[in-house]
Amino acid sequence: MKIDGKPTRTIWVEGDAVGIIDQTALPHRFVTARLATLEEAARAIKSMQVRGAPLIGAAAAYGIWLALKADASDEGIERAYAVLLATRPTAINLKWALDEMLATVRNRPRAERAAAALARANEIAEEDVAINQAIGRHGLKLIEDIAARKKGERVNVLTHCNAGWLATVDWGTATAPIYMAHDKGLPIHVFADETRPRNQGASLTAWELGKHGVAHTVISDNTGGHLMQHGMVDLVIVGTDRVTAQGDVCNKIGTYLKALAAHDNDVPFYVALPSPTIDFTVSDGVAEIPIEQRGAEEVATMTGKTADGRIETVQVVPDGSPVANYGFDVTPARLVTGLITERGVLKAGRAALAAAFPERA
Ligand code: MRU
Repeated sequence: MKIDGKPTRTIWVEGDAVGIIDQTALPHRFVTARLATLEEAARAIKSMQVRGAPLIGAAAAYGIWLALKADASDEGIERAYAVLLATRPTAINLKWALDEMLATVRNRPRAERAAAALARANEIAEEDVAINQAIGRHGLKLIEDIAARKKGERVNVLTHCNAGWLATVDWGTATAPIYMAHDKGLPIHVFADETRPRNQGASLTAWELGKHGVAHTVISDNTGGHLMQHGMVDLVIVGTDRVTAQGDVCNKIGTYLKALAAHDNDVPFYVALPSPTIDFTVSDGVAEIPIEQRGAEEVATMTGKTADGRIETVQVVPDGSPVANYGFDVTPARLVTGLITERGVLKAGRAALAAAFPERA
């Protein structure tokens, strides 16, 4: 998407290394970083310089390329796979991309492995863009229907965390329909949940929507229910880190509460996802998906810009208070109005998912 009119992606090849936007510096500074080794790629994923399920997958794919340039032996491949897989446990796109890379390089002569890895990583990145555009086209129809019903009044979409272009290679998942509606001239406005503890909504979603010129308002995480009760949200669209075979949706912590509020207020609750996010090996998301627990400092502190322009981190809990930091939660399929995929809008259920993606199911 565009930053001040300039088309930009989140990840690219830069000579014999990989370029990324360092998302930990946003929204106050736009910083890029260069990843030249397996270790640098793994650190970028773990530290959330790159984050969001599809981008984690693409970054891991390039990480395999970086690793094989240094060591293309069987042991080298196994080590790279293990190091990258251990970076983040919840987004299944990571394992999907690593399995794709393994299948690509495993049975080739050593001398060809690095080049084959780069080619497949590039394909994974391009596929992500194409998938998100297809998600955008299917989701756009939902927004157009609401716009037609509202006769030109603005359509209000609520989203959680960042499932925008920063979470993918381009377009985003939840935001693809929003960008397409905006680019088409539909009156669209986004409520972006701040998404504590790391504030991906306040710092990333708001930043990218603003840079592309989409009208938006940042709200605290507790505001969505109130807005829905007062008819101020026409639909919710969120992304996801893993969807199970029965259509349960794992996404950033707090998504479940938004789904409950949407259900209670008859607000449609859609989840946008690329097919690599579907994990057909698990069914019951609450019982089976590993939920990442991150460091206490993410909850205990907040980082922001001071009035004189410095970036500072401050503690917001009492000294010594214990802190828990669950990164994700699971929204049961029964609370999901529909899944916006590259193959259309599906019912969140086993039969619909298996019928749409028989080659994966
Ligand atoms: O912890 P993060 O920032 O990687 O979590 C991101 C989210 O939960 C996104 O909403 C999700 O990955 C969907 S990305 C299109």
